[in-house]
Amino acid sequence: MELHGTSAIVTGGASGLGAATARALAAEGARVTVFDKNEEGAKAVAEEVAGDYVAGDVTVADDCQLAVDQASAGGNLRMAVNCAGTGWIGRVINRDGVPHDLGAFEFIQRLNVIGTFNVMTRAASAIARTEPLADGERGVIVNTASVAAFDGQIGQLAYSASKGAVVAMTLPAARDLSVVGIRVLAIAPGLFDTPLLAMLPEEQREALGKSVLFPKRLGDPAQYGRLVVDIARNTYLNGEVIRLDGGIRMQPK
Ligand SMILES: NC(=O)c1ccc[n+]([C@@H]2O[C@H](COP(=O)([O-])OP(=O)(O)OC[C@H]3O[C@@H](n4cnc5c(N)ncnc54)[C@H](O)[C@@H]3O)[C@@H](O)[C@H]2O)c1
Repeated sequence: MELHGTSAIVTGGASGLGAATARALAAEGARVTVFDKNEEGAKAVAEEVAGDYVAGDVTVADDCQLAVDQASAGGNLRMAVNCAGTGWIGRVINRDGVPHDLGAFEFIQRLNVIGTFNVMTRAASAIARTEPLADGERGVIVNTASVAAFDGQIGQLAYSASKGAVVAMTLPAARDLSVVGIRVLAIAPGLFDTPLLAMLPEEQREALGKSVLFPKRLGDPAQYGRLVVDIARNTYLNGEVIRLDGGIRMQPK
């Protein structure tokens, strides 16, 4: 799909993988709407890519509708990329035998699963109303999973459950949307150098980089953005989860 002259929405676009995706799509000529709860960051990235922004929460359906409406007003909406999300550390029971906090588990499912659902469904509804392109394609949705969906580590119960759901939604969503010519894919990143990992001490970040099979370093968010562009361009990619991880297989801890 040719991105030039299309409109795209990127959630979590104020930071990390989302910001890199906004830059990559804008470089291809798409008009990008950055949707993030961090208004200052969303505005800064939108200005940088000469796009638009909506400050809102992906867990709130009305905010998602507003963001999709605004993205559609900026041109034919053809692409939605869900990058808003976060992690959580907590074991099934802690060292004292206390069960995992339910509120924390719910918070992560709400953000990573329901947030993705909200934007995917609303974006699909808008993309379905656009004119079809070559091959009958109308657009593509890319959701962000994680290698934790497959190699969940100790303490990743809530996070792995949420990313497993993102993985599991890929095929049924692609099947549902095939009738309107919308492809659905997910990217499962390994370890990327974003503000999420910047919270760790340098020593620990270095050790994490060395744990990658090859190349032995953290992923560059620009490489995530590049894959999103490749997915848009290659219209035969559909219904698949692509690991982008330097071949890493996460150990129990
Ligand atoms: N960085 C990694 O190594 C890595 C690895 C695997 C998966 N991921 C996934 O990639 C996605 C992006 O991660 P990142 O590293 O870029 O993180 P990040 O913290 O740099 O960016 C996440 C963005 O999401 C926004 N956000 C959070 N909650 C929101 C909400 N309720 N509504 C709207 N926006 C919200 C934040 O404000 C932030 O701008 C996440 O889903 C994360 O789980 C990251």
